[in-house]
Amino acid sequence: MSIQTARIEKKVSVRTIQKLKGKEPITMVTAYDALFAQLFDGEVEMILVGDSLNMSFFGKDDTLSATLDQMIYHTQAVCNGAKLPLIVFDMPFGTYTNKKQALENAVRVYRETDAQAIKIEGGIEKVGIVEHLTRNGIAVIAHIGLMPQSVRAEGGYMIKGKSKEEVQNLIIAAKALEKAGAFAMLLEGMKSEAAHNITKELSIPTIGIGAGVGCDGQVLVWSDMFGFFEAFKPKFVKQYLDGATLIRNGLEQYRDEVKNRKFPDENYSY
Ligand code: KIV
Repeated sequence: MSIQTARIEKKVSVRTIQKLKGKEPITMVTAYDALFAQLFDGEVEMILVGDSLNMSFFGKDDTLSATLDQMIYHTQAVCNGAKLPLIVFDMPFGTYTNKKQALENAVRVYRETDAQAIKIEGGIEKVGIVEHLTRNGIAVIAHIGLMPQSVRAEGGYMIKGKSKEEVQNLIIAAKALEKAGAFAMLLEGMKSEAAHNITKELSIPTIGIGAGVGCDGQVLVWSDMFGFFEAFKPKFVKQYLDGATLIRNGLEQYRDEVKNRKFPDENYSY
């Protein structure tokens, strides 16, 4: 039986997200600018200003060179466009390597943007930092499993949770990060069973990307899900729109009309 879904009418808070666990799957997409954030406003519970923008928006091969300044600029734009979803700021690589630096940067994010939470990648080694941040009033989503910021160190994007030992270690890390105060956990690129087991072990919601249906919610990168990013398409990406073809068709029509002096006709002229 499919459930009837409705637009979101009220501002989503950290508490709203926590209360959805076990009740209703949580929807999240990325956004990088006000134009698209406005389109997504009221449609999903959460928007992630992901450092994936370094690839899909800026054209780099990975996320690692995104800077705090760039992420702040994009988050300000997203906050200008979307008023209802909980906005999450993705802390870029190298901006949370120790407690002091992480807190200084997170405070800057709260001061300069309206983001309600930050996301940081890392397992058990980040527990101290998550605890320090949450004790100082920062709402944190922990991101475990495949961590794109580790792509150079790991030599590629590796699916996690393939062995019993790996699953066990993921569960240990997830529980420790929850205890440290994370209010939600993003599970990326892992076997569905591993993500399902982590979800069952936690009392905070899990948001999956390439982690199967057993999570408390799902996130997709908007340019992937709407078919704008063509460099590569991971298995987990479902395309809900062929955006690239729509744009090309529109541009082709525009070019033909300009070349044939059909645009602008009197309807579009003063
Ligand atoms: O940067 C991003 O868009 C992300 C998603 C892959 C979850 O972290």
